[in-house]
Amino acid sequence: MKKIVGAIAVIGLLLSSMFLHSVMGGSRAEKEAPAAMEHKGEMEEHPGKMGFLHHAMEELEEHTEKVFHAIIHGKFTELGEPARAVAGVAVSLKGTKPHNKLESIETYEGFIGALVDVSAKFERTVNEGDPVGITRSFGKVIEVCVACHANFRN
Ligand code: HEC
Repeated sequence: MKKIVGAIAVIGLLLSSMFLHSVMGGSRAEKEAPAAMEHKGEMEEHPGKMGFLHHAMEELEEHTEKVFHAIIHGKFTELGEPARAVAGVAVSLKGTKPHNKLESIETYEGFIGALVDVSAKFERTVNEGDPVGITRSFGKVIEVCVACHANFRN
């Protein structure tokens, strides 16, 4: 559904920009700009929809803070619930869009896939119970958080 709405929005944007250019002319560079570059980002194009991503990110922060706290206090038996929660939120990110750089949406989707993978692995490692393995595996989760932010946060 979101994809369909997104596609309709992109088509609308294309048509309106083609119309404006035919009426007003427009420089060569403008005419050659890819359509995605003209998208101002989800925040401006679909203001109501950004709430979900924002909320999901706050949840990820809350659960990963619990994980860090448990690890640093050596409470490796208390990781089951936050590990499951991180993995669940990761899956729920599918279909979301970043605020900016929509021309790189495939890269963004790649980061979501990576988070789904590393957080599922983290959950499995937690169940195995080895502190070193758990800590390494959590490091991979944070790496993906930071990599996506470096690319898509404004
Ligand atoms: C697929 C890309 C992606 C991944 C992976 C990702 N984030 Fe984010 N994150 C974003 C984007 C885009 C924003 C800015 C949008 C927003 O704040 O709503 C953001 C914002 C945030 C914020 C700021 C919230 C706010 O807006 O005040 C926090 C905290 C956060 N992420 C935590 C995390 C944590 C923790 C992880 C890993 C477990 C993570 N994120 C993984 C894309 C990602």
